[in-house]
Amino acid sequence: MATILRDLSYRYQWLYDAIARLSALTVGGEARFRQLALQNLTIHSDTKILDLCCGSGQATRFIVKLSQQVTGLDASPLSLQRARNNVPQANYVEAFAEKIPLRDNEFDIVHTSAALHEMQPSQLQEILKEVHRVLKPGGVFAIVDFHQPTNPIFIPGLAVFFWLFETETAWQLIKTDLPKLLEEVGFELSEVVLHAGGSLQVIQARK
Ligand SMILES: C[S@@+](CC[C@H](N)C(=O)[O-])C[C@H]1O[C@@H](n2cnc3c(N)ncnc32)[C@H](O)[C@@H]1O
Repeated sequence: MATILRDLSYRYQWLYDAIARLSALTVGGEARFRQLALQNLTIHSDTKILDLCCGSGQATRFIVKLSQQVTGLDASPLSLQRARNNVPQANYVEAFAEKIPLRDNEFDIVHTSAALHEMQPSQLQEILKEVHRVLKPGGVFAIVDFHQPTNPIFIPGLAVFFWLFETETAWQLIKTDLPKLLEEVGFELSEVVLHAGGSLQVIQARK
């Protein structure tokens, strides 16, 4: 069940961004959070990057500083309209992540932040396969999303956040072994790091 606060946070970008900034304090602030999944990757101005489920361009804004070949994809026309205004340096595609209307072997990096927890398990499977398809051989899928906290101090905070803003898919994701799913569709894990008492996972998986 989607909460009222979730709908409001999607309607008002300032609210979404304020909550994201507050949450990002757990990893040292927004700039760090927005680039967490890309850490240690070699990125040049011509590195082709897909920001999957880009929303209003919250992470895209940081990614365009690293590369001039950035595409944002999202299913929401409203979010994409905002992304085009907020980050005009990127190209945008309106589509579902489980049916990416782009060529095989096109991207060096597919990045996704704070989005996989919105997917039903069957959708998640399809999305991982699609990301594998659009990545070049050797390309990297860079993910930052929720994880079951390993430090019990973080459990109440995450639970309250989920009750206010998330649906059952977020609870499902933190029970899901995402690294195992990635391996099942053919990725090779190169990095799995937990942050914020284990409540965030950063995964880099290579095709
Ligand atoms: C929580 S927002 C994350 C936005 C941004 N990546 C960030 O880090 O703040 C999740 C985004 O995923 C998009 N989304 C949800 N399901 C999708 C799907 N099946 N295909 C494409 N985009 C989807 C929503 O429209 C929303 O913009």
